[in-house]
Amino acid sequence: MLRKASAADAALLRIWDKTQHVIDATGADAGSDWNWEAELPRDVTWREFLVGEVAGRAVGFMQIIDAREEETHYWGDVDPGLRAIDIWLGDAADFGKGYGCAMMRLALARCFADSSVTAVLIDPLVSNAKAHRFYERLGFRRTGRQMFGEDDCFVYRMARSEWTAG
Ligand SMILES: CC(C)(COP(=O)(O)OP(=O)(O)OC[C@H]1O[C@@H](n2cnc3c(N)ncnc32)[C@H](O)[C@@H]1OP(=O)(O)O)[C@@H](O)C(=O)NCCC(=O)NCCS
Repeated sequence: MLRKASAADAALLRIWDKTQHVIDATGADAGSDWNWEAELPRDVTWREFLVGEVAGRAVGFMQIIDAREEETHYWGDVDPGLRAIDIWLGDAADFGKGYGCAMMRLALARCFADSSVTAVLIDPLVSNAKAHRFYERLGFRRTGRQMFGEDDCFVYRMARSEWTAG
């Protein structure tokens, strides 16, 4: 199940921020403060913070942004209609059980439920080979390599036509 994150999740998200797998996956931004206490209550049109739950237990975090409208313009001057997703599980003991795949499918359905959305983007670090496999198995296609600040990333894309609701 995927639910909106709330201020009550701040403490848990801070614990997850400090886990090695999140630090490894978030590159140069690792350790930078997400300022959860201030950001979680902020209701903006260009971003969603979500928590994945299994049997009522929070297992993972997701951010979905409108890549064009996002306030820092992380993705640069991109077309309208693009969403970008970040995902991590909190506990490495939960890896490989299908939680990440299930959360991504729910998030993709959420993105493509908006008929103006044409595609979803992901920017895993070049070094994160496991995540590449994860996204490719979901149907994302690698479309390029891009530096985001100091981070050397691959860009993956899933067009609406490539998305299968199944
Ligand atoms: C990526 C991630 C969300 C996948 O969730 P999951 O529940 O483990 O994934 P699933 O069980 O649905 O699918 C398993 C696949 O996840 C990927 N995966 C597993 N461990 C991973 C890890 N430590 N880091 C990245 N991807 C991983 C692999 O591709 C794995 O497939 P495999 O069996 O071929 O090895 C989760 O592993 C994670 O939080 N990893 C660390 C943070 C991260 O890399 N996030 C992505 C940043 S772009």
